Amino acid sequence: MSSTTAEKIEELKRRKEQAMSSDPTRTEKRHAKGKYTARERIEKLLDPGTFRETDMLARHRCRDFGMEKKRPEGDGVITGSGKINGRLVYIFSQDFMVFGGSLGEVFAEKICKIMDMAMKYGAPVIGINDSGGARIQEGVVSLGGYAEIFYRNVMASGVVPQISAIMGPCAGGAVYSPALTDFTMMVKGKSHMFITGPEVIKSVTREEVTFEELGGAMTHNSRSGVAHLMAEDEDHCIEQIRALLSFLPSNNLEDPPHEPCDDPSDRTEEDLNTIIPDDPNRPYDMRDLVKLVVDHGEFFEVQPHWASNIIIGFSRLDGHTVGVVGNQPNFLAGCLDVDASIKAARFVRFCDAFNIPLVTFVDVPGFLPGTAQEYNGIIRHGAKLLYAYCEASVPKLTVITRKAYGGAYDVMCSKHIRADYNFAWPTAEIAVMGAEGAVNIIFRRELKDHDNPTERRTELVDSYKDKFASPYIAAERGYIDEVIEPKETRSRLIDALDATMNKRESRPAKKHGNIPL
Ligand code: HXC
Repeated sequence: MSSTTAEKIEELKRRKEQAMSSDPTRTEKRHAKGKYTARERIEKLLDPGTFRETDMLARHRCRDFGMEKKRPEGDGVITGSGKINGRLVYIFSQDFMVFGGSLGEVFAEKICKIMDMAMKYGAPVIGINDSGGARIQEGVVSLGGYAEIFYRNVMASGVVPQISAIMGPCAGGAVYSPALTDFTMMVKGKSHMFITGPEVIKSVTREEVTFEELGGAMTHNSRSGVAHLMAEDEDHCIEQIRALLSFLPSNNLEDPPHEPCDDPSDRTEEDLNTIIPDDPNRPYDMRDLVKLVVDHGEFFEVQPHWASNIIIGFSRLDGHTVGVVGNQPNFLAGCLDVDASIKAARFVRFCDAFNIPLVTFVDVPGFLPGTAQEYNGIIRHGAKLLYAYCEASVPKLTVITRKAYGGAYDVMCSKHIRADYNFAWPTAEIAVMGAEGAVNIIFRRELKDHDNPTERRTELVDSYKDKFASPYIAAERGYIDEVIEPKETRSRLIDALDATMNKRESRPAKKHGNIPL
């Protein structure tokens, strides 16, 4: 006799329970290591009770190496959708407790399915990575599975935000999915990313390196620039994902969410009038300046440990998300170098893809000189930032607080590359180069023949500074829309943002441009 409806429902429950069960001893071991299970990570990240799992009962089809006897429901990755701050997201969480989180055919199909749904329904994708890589028993099918995911990462790029949290190993070609996403987060001491591990490196190059030095969170946050954020632990990583998403639209056809704002839009900030030191060679922290301008002093900094001569991150102005870029005088005098150019260029392109207006704070003495920079291709990499700013069609607002010299003046969202509103403070110095350098070049002959070259040089430097080290020549020509008192910066930016909100600017039709990569 066939089973009754009640029995069928019981059978469903049994299957689901089986899929959701995990070995308590192994779970305890994970907890002892400061790690959550794949399912706990999802529950902690999403708004309570919102997770809707897909393919819970999917199982692999491998018949080799005795795999036919081990076919756990879910196949080692938990996938589905849920809400974060009430907004839809798609998520996958790799389960290291099942075949080391290794990726086989069905595992990949599950991830691809939710990526397709995310693109179709316009919601971010969050991937939690914790995996031994390609499932060795499934061979080339696993490689095919990875490539299907990579293809979707690229298709989704600029369509929906993609966030990768690395909470365990992520090795070999597996690193390329996070690398193709918009933001990669790593957990201190718990996550590792590398193409080849310490053993392979030792056998090939005889170099000895630990997992942590090679591909730990600090390495990728401070040296390689592969990661964007570093978390103290998994809870912190989850907090960072939720905070980051609060600034972003769900897809490229939406505007970023608007937060109600009780920080007055016309707030003047006296401290800004004194933030620039009288001595132009003394540094200050651009982050302090940004925090005085934006809503409630909130600046969600991205990549804070890498290329510290430029700062990037998200804030709000009168409740609207803005992407902030600023030279950082506190580090390398805020000059542009290879890493700073790459860091800012990618951020500018992200903001442009997702309708996030750009606010650029400029205090840049120029490009970092030296053979190291030239040989590493500062020409090519600096061009990335120039390209990104020119290409961006979102509202672009610029404030020159102090130095804006040479090519770096042009690059840092100048009027000429189509910024919408360019403000300068009275402390701005906009010129081809600094006074000493300029005098040495244009008066070299005169100084060589002069009876008292030191005194004459001082005179010439002072006169150059009086004439050129100011915002007024640029303002005369309309390169600066308004020279403002620093304390008015917030209200001027908010007015400019309000004016440019409905900006429409088209670009010539093309398949795609050719950014100097
Ligand atoms: C199948 C795997 C696996 C894999 C781990 N496991 N990696 N099974 N395929 N790739 C299984 C183990 O057999 C073990 O099963 C369980 O997962 C836990 O692994 P352990 O080694 O016990 O864990 P741990 O000591 O924490 O070490 C974790 C690890 C190590 C560092 C990730 O497992 C490891 O080195 N794995 C291989 C990594 C690798 O070389 N992958 C291929 C990379 S190349 P049992 O049954 O004993 O619990 C690649 C190409 C991708 O991924 C290309 C894309 C284009």
